[in-house]
Amino acid sequence: MVHLAPLSEKVAIMTSGGDAAGMNPAVKSAADYARKLGMQPYLVKWGLRGLIEGWIEPATDEFLSDLIHRGGTALGSSRSKRFFEYEFRKQAFENLQSLGIGKLVIIGGDGSFGALNQFYADFKVPFAGIPATIDNDISGTDYCLGVDTALNMIRSSVDSIRDTASSFSRAFVIETMGRDCGYLAMISALATDADVCLVPEIEYDLDSIGARLKEKRAEGKKYLLGIVAEGTGMGEALTRWMGDALGMDSRLTVLGHVQRGGSPTVYDRIMAFKFAVTAIDNLQAGEPNKVVTFKDGAFGMTSINEIADTKHQSDPGLVNLCRGLSR
Ligand code: F6P
Repeated sequence: MVHLAPLSEKVAIMTSGGDAAGMNPAVKSAADYARKLGMQPYLVKWGLRGLIEGWIEPATDEFLSDLIHRGGTALGSSRSKRFFEYEFRKQAFENLQSLGIGKLVIIGGDGSFGALNQFYADFKVPFAGIPATIDNDISGTDYCLGVDTALNMIRSSVDSIRDTASSFSRAFVIETMGRDCGYLAMISALATDADVCLVPEIEYDLDSIGARLKEKRAEGKKYLLGIVAEGTGMGEALTRWMGDALGMDSRLTVLGHVQRGGSPTVYDRIMAFKFAVTAIDNLQAGEPNKVVTFKDGAFGMTSINEIADTKHQSDPGLVNLCRGLSR
């Protein structure tokens, strides 16, 4: 059901925390859909810092029409420590009040949702969160914006590394981002047919990895690829070990922030649209401080407390598929 808003209703849209591809399409979709429902969309520049500083402007077509293909966040982002102090949250509230803005859409990670939850507790400004982080580590949702673009970036980088690895018969270790979550590493290892995958979720056994890789080499495998999640802290150690234990020339590539950039994939653009529509619909329906989640193929809203109280668990099916690459 479509809930039409009173003409005066204003909603501010912002991005916060680590940037992720899909944030820009989500801003565009949320603003477009808010307008369709009769709301007036505003944009907050530079995330929580912009809320405090009052960097809040009406959304213009000039800005919105140049977003869909752009990576990162054109609105800018920040990780503001000041927002955790009441006095600055009050300043942010006064900025919204002076513009008559009563609702917020925040596109970011669980740290940003927690900040707005506190803001809601203080000033009762309803918000809807849209999960966006390449780490894919927000509990309650199977997907966060930016993940598919990051995975494609990793896939393309590993394919390139494969070319040079095969030319020199080397062992390459590639380190992916993801903080304590091994999702990017696990999917990438499967998608690139890596020989080893080390992630925080799986206990590894270097002795059995060594025996398995020696067998592969004896059977004619020219080069080896290992994918390591940054959360294991094992990038350098595995590279050294591959050189020593297998007698191969070995190299480490830390992909780093390359994974966060790039034009959003079709999947991230479409998911951004669906997340945004669900966020605006639920804000309109009067659901405060909830996050849009995508679970088992369906969109829903999950309370921020539930998300904060539940530790993120990686998909056990995916973890099982990767066990054989850790031993
Ligand atoms: O949370 C996204 C992420 O890219 C992590 O994968 C990574 O550990 C971290 O942010 C890097 O943070 P920064 O951009 O502050 O260096």
